[in-house]
Amino acid sequence: MKARFSIVLVLGLIPLACVAQTAGAPPPGRLLASNCFQCHGTNGNAVSGFESLAGMSADKFAKEMRELKTDDDAGIMKPHAKAYTDAQLREIGRYFASQPRTRADR
Ligand code: HEC
Repeated sequence: MKARFSIVLVLGLIPLACVAQTAGAPPPGRLLASNCFQCHGTNGNAVSGFESLAGMSADKFAKEMRELKTDDDAGIMKPHAKAYTDAQLREIGRYFASQPRTRADR
């Protein structure tokens, strides 16, 4: 009786584990890009005067980030730009490029 209950319990948990795994994985780049949402808005659509990053081409993004890494006037963006490897920045850039711009701020 106890063994049968355990088998039923285990079998019952398998689909749950599958759902949890699928739902738990954010789209590529989103986890890193979410470090930018505080200022540049959720998915890169800024609401408060910051530049939106949603829909920015990956090339333009890479160029901006390269400049911000070394620009002494970049302010708060310098540490953000320097904190990521080139590969991580490419991933973040691809993520923002794939996001629709929902606000016509800039
Ligand atoms: C604490 C607020 C803050 C956070 C967090 C932040 N930024 Fe910024 N970002 C700014 C500000 C302010 C500017 C404007 C800086 C300037 O013009 O020198 C800016 C400018 C930029 C620009 C240039 C945009 C343009 O059109 O000129 C890019 C690209 C950028 N940020 C990317 C990022 C990325 C990627 C992240 C996350 C890794 C990030 N930012 C996180 C505040 C922030």
